[in-house]
Amino acid sequence: MKDPIIKLRNIHFSYEGRKILEDLNLEIREGERLGLVGPNGSGKTTLLYIIMGLLKPERGSVEIFGKIRQKERDFLEVRQKIGLLFQDSDSQLFCPTVKEDIAFGPLNLGLPKGEVEKMVRRILKILGLEGFEDRVTYKLSGGEKKLVSLGTVLAMNPVCYLLDEPSAGLDEVTVERVLSYLKTYAKTYLIVSHDRKFLEEATEKIYILRNGKISTL
Ligand SMILES: Nc1ncnc2c1ncn2[C@@H]1O[C@H](COP(=O)(O)OP(=O)(O)OP(=O)(O)O)[C@@H](O)[C@H]1O
Ligand SMILES: [Mg+2]
Repeated sequence: MKDPIIKLRNIHFSYEGRKILEDLNLEIREGERLGLVGPNGSGKTTLLYIIMGLLKPERGSVEIFGKIRQKERDFLEVRQKIGLLFQDSDSQLFCPTVKEDIAFGPLNLGLPKGEVEKMVRRILKILGLEGFEDRVTYKLSGGEKKLVSLGTVLAMNPVCYLLDEPSAGLDEVTVERVLSYLKTYAKTYLIVSHDRKFLEEATEKIYILRNGKISTL
C-alpha cells in the first residue's frame, strides 16, 4: 500500500481548556475517497484546520507528504498541494470579483496570465457559472459563494481535497454537477458533511468523529 499523504497521530486539541480532539488518529492515502460525519461541534472543522496548519495541536504529530509539519513554513507546501474548502465561504473569498478570487492561487504559483484566464473560464463552466467573471463576490448568494469557493480550490488542482460541507445550500442540479466533477477529476479527498446521500455517492468509506476520536462508521 502507498504511504499516506496525510498521517495524524495521537492528536490532542482544546479550545480554552475544553477538549475537542483527544488522541485522534487519521490517515489519508492517495486515491482514497473518504467521508467524515459527526455531531455539530464535534471538531470536524477544527480537524481540517489542524491538517492545514491553521491551528496547532497541543500534542501529537501532523505528517504530510512524509514530513512532520510543525512550523508555519512547513505548511506552505501543504497549502499549495492540499485544497481546503472552508465551511464558511466568507473565510475563503477575499477578492473583489469572482475571476480574481479563482485566479489568485494559480497567479501566485506563477502561471501565465493568459493561461489562468482560460482556466477561470473553464472552471466557471464546470460549475455552471458562465459569465460570472466580473460579478462582485460579496454580493453573491450563499450557494453562488459556495460554488466560487469550490472554484478557488479546483483552480489549484490539489493532490488532496478537504471539503467542509461542499453540498450545503446547493440546489439538486448543482449538487449533481459538483459530484460529477469530484468523481471525474478528484482522486483523493475527505468530505465533511451532514448530507448522507451526498457522502454515499461521493465516497467509499465514511468515518465518524465522536468524543474526540475517529472511527469507521
Ligand atoms: N475559536 C474558537 N474558540 C473557542 N471555541 C471554538 C472555536 N472554534 C470552535 N470552537 C468550538 O469547538 C467545537 C468544535 O468546533 P468545530 O467547528 O470544529 O465543530 P464541527 O464538528 O465542525 O461542527 P459543525 O458540524 O457544526 O460544523 C465547538 O463546540 C465550537 O463551538
Ligand atoms: Mg464544521
